[in-house]
Amino acid sequence: MRILSGIQPSGTIHIGNYFGMIKKMIESQDDGELFAFIASYHALTSVKDKGFLQKNIFEAAVNFLSLGMDPEKSTFWVQSDVPEVLELYWILSNHTPMGLLERAHSYKDKTARGIASNHGLLSYPVLMAADILLFDSNIVPVGKDQIQHVEMARDIANTFNNTYGDILTMPLSKVDDNLATVPGTDGAKMSKSYSNTIDMFGTKKALKKQVMKIVTDSRELDEAKEYATCNVYKLCELFMNEEELIVMQNRYATPGEGYGHFKIALMDKINDHFAPYIERREHFMNNPDEVKEILSQGAIKASTVAREKLKVIRDAVGLNY
Ligand code: ADP
Ligand code: TRP
Repeated sequence: MRILSGIQPSGTIHIGNYFGMIKKMIESQDDGELFAFIASYHALTSVKDKGFLQKNIFEAAVNFLSLGMDPEKSTFWVQSDVPEVLELYWILSNHTPMGLLERAHSYKDKTARGIASNHGLLSYPVLMAADILLFDSNIVPVGKDQIQHVEMARDIANTFNNTYGDILTMPLSKVDDNLATVPGTDGAKMSKSYSNTIDMFGTKKALKKQVMKIVTDSRELDEAKEYATCNVYKLCELFMNEEELIVMQNRYATPGEGYGHFKIALMDKINDHFAPYIERREHFMNNPDEVKEILSQGAIKASTVAREKLKVIRDAVGLNY
């Protein structure tokens, strides 16, 4: 079974990305053959700054490797190091109705937020379909917001297969139902576009600043507080075990503590959670050549698979004559 997923290097990775995707992706290395890539082409839809993109690609690689991506076991590469995907993107574009693209939630959300519409933004799901279909992916682990894109890849694959025969493998998205969308410091979905993130490897000072920003109600120290609706508690649920959560529930129910105290408890847990990875992360940050070598080996592995599949597709559509 082949599992494939990608992450855009479009900003600093936050705990929403971690729980929504990275953690699952790394764990899935034990479930099947993992293909994981840094979606550098996709990031061009939002990042128009050379240095920022370069930094994000490198740091995304470092973060994945530090958190347990194993390049021996899995195929791990940067999307734009295997440009074959762009050829499939073009071929698939001819099997993608405009209406399908115009209905994409992500496109509609982005344009509604005032992001200028352009062809890259509109055709983004076709490139994502190419990523998925080029590698015969069976399972695509994603966050809830990406399910529609995987559905679109299925629609496109269907149209293609109806024309040329059973060539493309039908992918399935895999969403962890236990995992609701991770809330940001303002209670809305955590997203780098909303300035409401809690970053994974920030300094202690930066983490404190972000955690202290979490919006709560205005109940005073001497009042009991409600945990179920509290953003601090919702984040605690990601980092604490059942026993620790019961302790927190009791602290909420007992007057005498304020939200600042609960935030400190959360902050300590976030620090503890990522502490085991910090040394490895420092190592990779200080050895960029090692990281680049790993990525370049990953690209070689990925392009072997990509070229083989692309040959079959080129044959099917009549480009090989
Ligand atoms: P962002 O919203 O910060 O731009 P991306 O769109 O790059 O994040 O998402 C990368 C991956 O992380 C996707 O699989 C997405 O579903 C997941 N993800 C992002 N934000 C969250 C969140 N708040 N909760 C759960 N998963 C998330
Ligand atoms: N669009 C995905 C996101 O923003 C990233 C991505 C690109 C992806 N290509 C993919 C995810 C293929 C899964 C499969 O999160």
